[in-house]
Amino acid sequence: MATRTYDEHTVIIFDTTLRDGEQSPGATLSSAEKLEIARQLSVLGVDVIEAGFPAASPDDLRAVQRIAREVGTPDGPTVAGLARAVESDIRTAWEGVGQAAKPRIHTFLGTSPSHLAMLRIDKAEGLQRIRRAVALAKSLCADVEFSPMDAGRTDTEYLVSACAVAVECGATTLNIPDTVGYVMPTEWADTLEMLINETPGAGPGSGVIWSVHCHNDLGLATANTLAGLRRGVRQVEVTINGIGERAGNTSLEEVVMAIHTRKSFYDLRTNIDSTQIMKTSRMVRNYMGMPVQPNKAIVGANAFAHESGIHQDGVLKNAATFEIMTPETIGLTQSKLVLGKHSGRHALRVRLSELGYDVDGDELMDVFRRFKTLADMKKTVTDADLEALVADEAAQKPEDYFRLVDIQVVCGTMGMPTATVKMLNQRGEELIVAAVGTGPVDASYRAVDEIIQAPSALLEFNVHSVTEGIDALGEVTVRIAPAGSSRTFGGYGADSDIVVSSVKAYVAALNRMIASMGSAEVAPEGDVAMVGLSA
Ligand code: KIV
Ligand code: ZN
Repeated sequence: MATRTYDEHTVIIFDTTLRDGEQSPGATLSSAEKLEIARQLSVLGVDVIEAGFPAASPDDLRAVQRIAREVGTPDGPTVAGLARAVESDIRTAWEGVGQAAKPRIHTFLGTSPSHLAMLRIDKAEGLQRIRRAVALAKSLCADVEFSPMDAGRTDTEYLVSACAVAVECGATTLNIPDTVGYVMPTEWADTLEMLINETPGAGPGSGVIWSVHCHNDLGLATANTLAGLRRGVRQVEVTINGIGERAGNTSLEEVVMAIHTRKSFYDLRTNIDSTQIMKTSRMVRNYMGMPVQPNKAIVGANAFAHESGIHQDGVLKNAATFEIMTPETIGLTQSKLVLGKHSGRHALRVRLSELGYDVDGDELMDVFRRFKTLADMKKTVTDADLEALVADEAAQKPEDYFRLVDIQVVCGTMGMPTATVKMLNQRGEELIVAAVGTGPVDASYRAVDEIIQAPSALLEFNVHSVTEGIDALGEVTVRIAPAGSSRTFGGYGADSDIVVSSVKAYVAALNRMIASMGSAEVAPEGDVAMVGLSA
């Protein structure tokens, strides 16, 4: 468990992966996945978890309540719930976070001309709504955060008035959002400094925490956030991998590693255990089915890769020549675990635990079995391989509607690619289908479709190898959308055979889609060992 300590140099890390991040196109999570991510965010050491928007749906409310109860422990993070500046939202947010040891209500109102126009209210009515909302939130919860939405396009005089009213009614954190990713770093820094100095009751020494929340539409979210820190901001609202609406939010790992790497420049610190960054990034990527671009700062696959001869030579002689951070700082271990046929479960469990995975019981048996198979095929099993195996096991849940049992494909230049897929449904029945497609993955997906019969469109399909070498494990992430819906669902799979990883990822996404859309239209009973052919 991360130990959180605070002084005037501490930057509070407010993680909104489960709220703003989950608003990314296609990032739908089940409540169990949200809970697991929240647990990992707590281990990472974030100070505040924005667990969701409880008024959005009963499911969202339940997910926030569970996180509040199970992760919001006395030595855990503050758990925040978002609410529009309306009574029912605020009461529902309180229902969501009330059971956390450190609950927070985060309420917001649009203050820019276009947002006031959208709400069909004038500036005076805006201030009234802020007054009522913050006062109500404060009557329920001691810790209240207020955000003037679209502050980046709000005139500064009105921003001061909005923040002053919020503080007068009891807000203890004032969060200034650049909702549409419009502002420039120096301009934003000037605005924030002015707000901190000019807002009555919220200046230095008042105890009010100033926060920023930036979107990345012009690729400036991290720069704008860091600019705020130089002028007195002490809370940053961020997401893992920078996911979020449109071009995303400020990325947690970029801000944290900038503070960490340029310590003497910022003279600031965070409570983040940076060695947990990579694990958290992978978890979010896998559960959301949202790949991370290879050149993404800090967590991209190429972030620590050196391609050119000059760079490689320099790094071999002294890593600092071209590296400003070591891969180990973010939890990217370089070590190779040379366990072979004769290595035991104990050694595997110890190594997994060193990597931060407490795997036991049946799960350990499953990972061990797969580790042995892999150790037979590969000369060295790296930590990255182990992490992919654990992620793959975690992607398959006991409550899944369908499970892949076996797959066999025939493909090449001499015929039609054909896949035979055997799956188990929840009733424990075996379903076997063979299908023909344009390639092995297409044929396999057609076979799966025939078994599961849950019409969907494949929107994204990404394969990448976990390590270098021809014997590497292949990871696949997919994103699908049910027919006639704009919601999308992600899935992840890892295997030494990329057709197998592809099918696992697809089945994981379909299971998630079925779980969220209601019951599955399963192939009729009696279709056990059914064989169908589709072109
Ligand atoms: O971008 C934004 O303005 C938000 C607010 C709700 C804080 O997400
Ligand atoms: Zn936002």
